[in-house]
Amino acid sequence: MCGIVAYIGPKDATPFLLEGLARLEYRGYDSAGVAVTGRTGGIKSRKVKGRVADLAADIPARFKGTTGIGHTRWATHGVPSDANAHPHLDNAERIAVVHNGIIENADELRVRLTAEGAVFRSETDTEVLAHLIAAHATEGVELEEAVRAALGKVVGTYGIAVLDAEQPDRIVVARNGSPIVLGIGEKEMFAASDVSALVRYTRQVVHLEDGELATVRADGFRTFTEDARTTHRQPSTVDWEIDSYDTGGYEHFLLKEIHEQPGSVERTLSGRLDERFATAHLGGLNLDARELREIRRVKILGCGSAYYAGEMGAQLIEELARIPAHSEPASEFRYRNPVIEADTLYIAVSQSGETYDTLAAVQEVKRKGGRVLGVVNTVGSAIARECDGGIYLHAGPEISVASTKAFTSTVVAFALIALHFGRIHDLSPADGRRIVSALKALPDQIREVLAQSDAIAELAAEYAESEGMMFIGRVRGYPVAREGAQKLKEISYVHAEAYPASELKHGPLALISPELPTVALVPDDELLDKNLTTLGEIKARSGRVLAVAHRRPDAKLADHCVLVPKSEPELDPLLLNIPLQLLAYHAAVALKRDVDKPRNLAKSVTVE
Ligand code: AGP
Repeated sequence: MCGIVAYIGPKDATPFLLEGLARLEYRGYDSAGVAVTGRTGGIKSRKVKGRVADLAADIPARFKGTTGIGHTRWATHGVPSDANAHPHLDNAERIAVVHNGIIENADELRVRLTAEGAVFRSETDTEVLAHLIAAHATEGVELEEAVRAALGKVVGTYGIAVLDAEQPDRIVVARNGSPIVLGIGEKEMFAASDVSALVRYTRQVVHLEDGELATVRADGFRTFTEDARTTHRQPSTVDWEIDSYDTGGYEHFLLKEIHEQPGSVERTLSGRLDERFATAHLGGLNLDARELREIRRVKILGCGSAYYAGEMGAQLIEELARIPAHSEPASEFRYRNPVIEADTLYIAVSQSGETYDTLAAVQEVKRKGGRVLGVVNTVGSAIARECDGGIYLHAGPEISVASTKAFTSTVVAFALIALHFGRIHDLSPADGRRIVSALKALPDQIREVLAQSDAIAELAAEYAESEGMMFIGRVRGYPVAREGAQKLKEISYVHAEAYPASELKHGPLALISPELPTVALVPDDELLDKNLTTLGEIKARSGRVLAVAHRRPDAKLADHCVLVPKSEPELDPLLLNIPLQLLAYHAAVALKRDVDKPRNLAKSVTVE
């Protein structure tokens, strides 16, 4: 939810800190701050409510130091304000801390530290860390020892970076439930909560494990555990392209990521289609055919768009493999003492691989002896590591808060899983071939939809003025409607409701009026007539209709239509979703919204 950066080396840290924070801003953007120190001693710190650009404007030219930490925040404890922004310092201004995560026993620690003389200046849980580390940083104690001792008293999750004015030759970082990655440079070192802050400077990185700390100096690093045992960590190379982290000439990351989908789908499919046996190769599942045959049910867990992608995945698995499958919000599942069955396969879905609710759901399943696979975009992320096996999306980094290319790749991954399971069960070779060729055709078909971006922009400008929008779809179309409504409300703030088309007359038809237009998914499948009847019911109530269809409905049934290329019926939802991404994007632009960083949201929700 928040972003951390740190630098130590011969140069001034501030330019790297500010650039790194700008790159991490998608993770949280209600306040930002930096602290630096160096040979001249003392800590200089600046923090503001607002964006990284506001912070940069507030930094004076003399703000220099060769060791520094920075943070961009998404508020959990305390409102967004200058005082609550990180870094937090102890009263002597010797220690500065930036923190992602939540200190659960902060209240108890605050009372104790206050009794010992600490004066708190913010409402945050993080500030207790600054005072606690300072309390342990007594004469002759190394910073890493003070940090280790302080963390021993803390209950909660954290990724932290700590600066000490009296030991400016090092930064100490620690990870427990919130990622920290070290970047190895030439006589300089970096650290961040996400590689996107580092890739301009180095591609050699070390991901800390939970429960691990590191002392980072300009010439190297040492990692160790909470009980002071040295660990040996080998650097790995970041393989995502550097230009994935830039808008690359597009006005927004979101538009770029929507347009990247032909390529990201190709990468999700790459090397996984087996034309000879009309199936999919998914080595990472770690399940052989015999084990797969024993699975009686599939339960898919994810949050937000990942949950909706899971709904599409459940339909694919039921249709192609005839295994009962169901998607549930991981955020609900984890709180309801779920029954874990030995013959159920659990599949966790997450773009970031960090969503706390999904991670907690995976841990709950595993604790009860269940088997969990991951459908995850971020390699080596917490959820990917927690799962027993799975499939990486290879969609590339997704920076815009609203998920688009990762959503599409997730559904493609489910199509591969469903094909693989299906061919182990009763899906015929002919049906397998039908799905393989439809999957191969997807990238070009997505290009065809993207070519309609300008026409969709005109429709979006018109519909964006509405007081709200209804999204409807039937069976395969319903998760598409849900994701379409989610995308619109998330980035344009236009109220949007999704309903199964079949349910309209059981209540929501009362809402239909010229002020509340309907986006209707109308695939050319076995339910076409039913869908056309629903359009008639809407038009009879003076409702406006924008149809997303394979064939243009009669003008009496739809005011506007976006045509989408036909795939196989099971894969149609994938393509029907793409115009809805463009509709949401262009509506948000027409309404002058902050498209990549919508209000109140953050890219990864790493808190409960
Ligand atoms: C998607 O547009 C949303 N920003 C959000 O619903 C997101 O899909 C959800 O928070 C899950 O994120 P994850 O895929 O990283 O776990």
